[in-house]
Order: sequence, then C-alpha cells, then structure tokens
Amino acid sequence: MCSPEYFAVEYAINPWMDVTAPVDPELAVKQWDRLRETLVGLGHEVHLLAPEPGLPDMVFAANGAFVVDGTVYGARFKHHQRTDEAAAHRAFYESQGWRFIAPNETNEGEGDFAYLPEAHGGLILAGYGFRTELPAHAEAQEALDRPVVSLRLVDPRFYHLDVALASIDDGNVVYYPGAFSTASQRVLGQLFPDAVLADDSDALAFGLNLVSDGANVVLNSEATRLAGRLKAAGYTPVPVELAELKKGGGSVKCCIAELRR
Ligand code: ARG
Repeated sequence: MCSPEYFAVEYAINPWMDVTAPVDPELAVKQWDRLRETLVGLGHEVHLLAPEPGLPDMVFAANGAFVVDGTVYGARFKHHQRTDEAAAHRAFYESQGWRFIAPNETNEGEGDFAYLPEAHGGLILAGYGFRTELPAHAEAQEALDRPVVSLRLVDPRFYHLDVALASIDDGNVVYYPGAFSTASQRVLGQLFPDAVLADDSDALAFGLNLVSDGANVVLNSEATRLAGRLKAAGYTPVPVELAELKKGGGSVKCCIAELRR
C-alpha cells in the first residue's frame, strides 16, 4: 500500500475524476489508514511504498505490478501522468528479491489482472478496452506461465477490471456483468457458474473493488447490497469507508497490491 499523502485530483483520466471537486487529503489519509488497520487486524502483513510528490495517483498501488507465485510482471501505464509510478514499484520488488519481469506492453497491473489459483488449474483473468492493451495479456501469459483469459470492458465507468470483478476465494469471483461485452459475459458464465453477481448500485458504489482472503471480504461501505449477497454466500463482509479516494476513481482493491509468494 502507498499512503495518499500527495493524493489529489489534478487531472481527469477516468470518468470519476473531476478536477473542480475538492479533495480533503487529511480525510483521505485517515480513511486509508483505517483500511490498512483493517487488513492488519485481519492478520495480514502490509508493506508500505513511500509516496512521491507529483504522483497524486500513487495511492492506487494495485496498478504498479501483477504478482503470481513469486514472479512480478511490471506495469507500464497508459497515461503519462502515472508513468513514473512504475519505477517505484519495480524498485520495491527488486530490493526485496522478487523475480521481476519488465513489460514492453501497456498494462496497469492488478487494475486489469486477477489471479484465481484454484480455477481451472490456475487462471489469470485480464481486462482490456480502456487501459491495459491486448498484447499485454499474451506478454503476461509468457511471463507468468498461466493461461490468460481476455475480457473486454465496455463501460468507461468501469475502466479497469478491478472495478468490475474480484476474486472472492481461490476459485470463484464476483462481478458486474454490465461492465463486460456480451461475449465476455458468456465466457465468465462458462468459467464461473457459481459466481456472485453484483447489480448496478453495487458496481457504481465501487463494491466490486474489494479484497478477499477467502473468508473476509473487505469492501466499500456504500455497497450494502453486495455485502448482503456475500454474507448469504457464506463470506464475512468487512465494510470500509473510502469516500475521498472515490474521487480519484478507486476504492479498496485499487489501494492494495497483493504479494503472492
Ligand atoms: N485515478 C486513477 C486512474 O485513473 C485511479 C486508479 C484506480 N485503480 C484501480 N486499480 N482501479 O488511473
């Protein structure tokens, strides 16, 4: 995770960002801290990346890389405003001895890649349409040795895969069908017949932008319907308020890069 110390909406690269709407950086830090404490309270270890002035979106740490079983496929951002974030993530992984593979193709890390270790023997889901480009899916497959399934995102409000779909355990997902092309919806239905589906209100409340350890599902507190559905499916929803970061177009998952050893 990376503190939102320098978080601001200085440019608009997704439909949620409004440069005229003021951001309260102190509140952002407070809410982000609660998220960090929640993860620690659930028994997870949180590593911190140092925030850098001039990189107001760095708080969205999920976009910096994608890690599967100790191998890191680096990010290459679409928008120039975020380009320099990739080097900070790379330095973090290299200083810790992870195997790092530098990308040639445009991709925004866990923003557009999800890993399901127990689905069909280990499957990567990859989004494209707004940020990550299709050739990066093939590059990720070569780098990470796992089959990659490409899913086309069609609604600009859901510009990353991780605002439309999340893994809730090692083999299952929750998603908002309306974010995907008709064909991709069919592919998801075939791969995950038992998926939990979210509705428009859950999706627009950033409910899908969640992290799960297979039992506890940390999600945006506004996604109350989805919390109910997850509970009914046997998970424990853990709501967290992240209203300030929503102004940048992100929530829980965007703030967290998962380190899969
Ligand atoms: N303002 C950031 C951007 O548009 C938000 C990124 C959200 N991160 C995510 N993983 N969806 O790039």
